[in-house]
Amino acid sequence: MTPGDAGADFVVVANRLPVDLVRDADGTEHWKASPGGLVTALESILRANHGAWVGWPGVPDAAPEPFDSDGIRLHSVQLSAEDISLYYEGFSNATLWPLFHDVVVPPEYHREWWNAYRDVNTRFAEATAAAAAPGATVWVQDYQLLLVPRLLRELRPDLTIGFFLHIPFPPVELFMQLPWRAELVEGMLGADLVGFHLPGGADNFRILANKLRGHPSVRLTSSKTKAAEIRVDDRMVRVGAFPISIDSAAVDRSARSRETLVRADRLRQELGSPRVLLLGVDRLDYTKGIDVRLRALEELIEEGRLDPSEVTLLQLATPSRERVEQYQIMRSRIEESVGRINGMYGEIGQPVVTYIHRPVPKSELTAFYAAADVMLVTPVRDGMNLVAKEYVAACTDGDGALVLSEFAGAANELRQAYLCNPHDLDGVKDAIMSAIDDSREERRRRMRSLRRQVLGNDVHAWARRFFTTLDATSNA
Ligand code: ADP
Ligand code: G6P
Repeated sequence: MTPGDAGADFVVVANRLPVDLVRDADGTEHWKASPGGLVTALESILRANHGAWVGWPGVPDAAPEPFDSDGIRLHSVQLSAEDISLYYEGFSNATLWPLFHDVVVPPEYHREWWNAYRDVNTRFAEATAAAAAPGATVWVQDYQLLLVPRLLRELRPDLTIGFFLHIPFPPVELFMQLPWRAELVEGMLGADLVGFHLPGGADNFRILANKLRGHPSVRLTSSKTKAAEIRVDDRMVRVGAFPISIDSAAVDRSARSRETLVRADRLRQELGSPRVLLLGVDRLDYTKGIDVRLRALEELIEEGRLDPSEVTLLQLATPSRERVEQYQIMRSRIEESVGRINGMYGEIGQPVVTYIHRPVPKSELTAFYAAADVMLVTPVRDGMNLVAKEYVAACTDGDGALVLSEFAGAANELRQAYLCNPHDLDGVKDAIMSAIDDSREERRRRMRSLRRQVLGNDVHAWARRFFTTLDATSNA
């Protein structure tokens, strides 16, 4: 905070700032948009509220002075190369991430990772305490900062503190593996309101608060959020389900623009005007089931159910957490599958799978959504999956089909998608074939229902519901 700066009344704290600092080989620096759904969702909320954002600028040893970006005041937390390796790549992304995603790869437990996590969480809490005005509302985000609510409350008891988890909260039996389980639950309980995507997550948390710390709770049966209240000493902590969404109207508007429609047409031509254009859009993460859809496509072609000269899969896979071993393993597997499928079934200038391993601009992405016939969202576990909602919002002509894993949080709301179990490959193949072969009327009927859901429940409504509940809970 600059001298004389009174601090912000509304502060978001997340591991990453909404923009990442990029250092070019010649030493020049610039900022680019950060990856992931958390940033997509919160950026639009913060811009509308003129708040502050505390986070890491994405590279080691950088701590620029606070500055304004698109109406948001950005405060950097500096991380060293060692912090990044132990706190971010280690405890956050090789312990908590796999554990919270149903141990899809084995989580690793290392005391030095935990020590770094506690240390870095303390620094985030201190930076937030310095950026917040007296009596401000602070919104702490996600699994990288589970200890921040409690640490912040100790530093600044005047603040109203909300916490939201963007990834699944695991079953009690899995959470119990964590050697530091009690401290983590106590950390989250520093908030006035703890939000999850799904009611199951809120329930698991409530059970753990009692089991590990003896905090009693009551269910609020009348509440739409399936909320409960947990008594923590002399405070009440509210927990509940708040399924996140997107800025649906903005995506819809952008998808209707002339430039998008022209780009969507051109894209289909560039891809050889396939009869069926399948699309996948993900961070390259082992939870996303990119391998599942590639296997399904390969088998459908092998079995003669799909003709490789008629179908194309465009798979975008943004690089993610590239120094973490399990991400490297997954990347090799996917790239091997893409090579195998194209080697077996592609023609010169006509690959079956077009694979792009880099982020694309938002406007381009919207054109890809608008061009696709079938969107493949097949994670083995996902907190919500905003890509599924973005596709629906971009499907303005009502003629598109969403194949969606039952293990994505979005499946709770998007019941009219072509739902599938990603562990049942034959089921995934059947869902893809129904999405392709169903009558136009059936696809449109389903899409109409999906669009009602997504356009009627946007990210602004999500934030309003969270803050209305937080206001009603605040112990201040
Ligand atoms: P996660 O947060 O796990 O990455 P989500 O599906 O919830 O998954 O959010 C991903 C966000 O990142 C979406 O807003 C999506 O538009 C964006 N995104 C994903 N892949 C790309 C890409 N290749 N280029 C640009 N944006 C992308
Ligand atoms: C998910 C997480 C976010 C994270 C994003 C990108 O959406 O919930 O907290 O920011 O992935 O991952 P990264 O590790 O690059 O920040």
